[in-house]
Amino acid sequence: MTAGVEALFAERARWLKASDVRELLKYTQDPSIISFAGGLPSQDAFPRDELRVIFEELLQEDRLPALQYGPTPGDPALRRELTSLMARRGIDASADRTVVTHGAQQALEFLGRVLLDPGDIVIATRPTYLGLFTALATYRPTYHDVPLDEDGILTDVLEDDLRALALDGIRPKFIYVVPTFHNPTGTSISARRRRRLADLAATYEVPVIEDDPYHDLRFEGDPVAPIASMNREGWIVYLGSFSKTLAPGFRIGWAHGPPALIQKMALAKQGADLFTNGFGQRVAERYLALGMLDRHLPRIRALYRRKRDVMLARMQETFPDRVTWTRPEGGMFLWVTIPSELDTRSILPAAAAQRVVYVPGHGFFAGTPEPNHMRLNYSLPSEPDIEKGIGILGALLDRAIRSSLPGPPLIGA
Ligand SMILES: Cc1ncc(COP(=O)(O)O)c(C=O)c1O
Repeated sequence: MTAGVEALFAERARWLKASDVRELLKYTQDPSIISFAGGLPSQDAFPRDELRVIFEELLQEDRLPALQYGPTPGDPALRRELTSLMARRGIDASADRTVVTHGAQQALEFLGRVLLDPGDIVIATRPTYLGLFTALATYRPTYHDVPLDEDGILTDVLEDDLRALALDGIRPKFIYVVPTFHNPTGTSISARRRRRLADLAATYEVPVIEDDPYHDLRFEGDPVAPIASMNREGWIVYLGSFSKTLAPGFRIGWAHGPPALIQKMALAKQGADLFTNGFGQRVAERYLALGMLDRHLPRIRALYRRKRDVMLARMQETFPDRVTWTRPEGGMFLWVTIPSELDTRSILPAAAAQRVVYVPGHGFFAGTPEPNHMRLNYSLPSEPDIEKGIGILGALLDRAIRSSLPGPPLIGA
């Protein structure tokens, strides 16, 4: 008998592994479970009426271009709209430096394909978006992590690290950041640190990958311009997405950056899938050109603001003293820290038994994980579910903390 098909797998297939979050996503399909685990938009945030108008219009077009094959870098009209969108964010953009991708996730995968050989250094925050690890898995970089605080990546530490690496003759391939309403912590990089990042990228000639899918989801505080708007010498690659402001089902994102890199990414795209979902691209183009995004955003922001407020208020009521959390001014997530002797993974089964799930923090660390965090999503669950689910988590955290304290065993604990 011959060995199974696994014996035929290429070496790189060994590095393809399921991520915890995608495993947890199966819970989001079960309506009886309150899921704080996914990064899913609320279905109430989808622009249903606008889409009806757009679909009708696209199906009326002569020669039905929305259903036809299209150019690899993207629909020309959409690339022009993206140029204006980026210009409104302060970025000196152009259509020929833009490639439309199947979500920001595909742009990350292409960056790995174009830039990384095994062992190359990628700098990321600790914690960071865990989809980065899946996107880059087969390219096997070595991660170098830099801490963050409520103002984002610690640029002083980053500078020291870049200097030390340069002294060792090492030039990292890129620095990956999520500047606005960071996944998983919900924090944003301050304007001062963004300028510093732009300067460090130019000084050390290391690209910054600025992954900004939550840019438009600010419901509080003043907007902060993207790092790409502070970039004088072409060292910033800006990633955008329609997943959070239109719908993730269309899979429309984009990358904008140095021409040589964007051209290589387009070649990677040619091999991967020829071009991005043409219907979705035309939908995104119409959504922008007809001013629908700008009209719809206030609705999404108001919805998520209410949900965040409900979550924060309920946490304040029910979470025990030694638990802290971030207070995001936008986006979809907040980050909870429990006492360092506890592991949020060990609380998850009890939560799941009470039909509540969240993402334990350990998966968001490239280096040594800190197990005492959890990421909570507030965009998907309804307000009553947030109230109920946070109450359940609060009771479980209280119990876990009390049973970890020294002293006589708790009666009935
Ligand atoms: C920081 C970050 N980057 C990229 C993605 C993937 O987005 P897309 O749906 O555009 O592929 C996500 C999705 O949650 C994200 O949080």
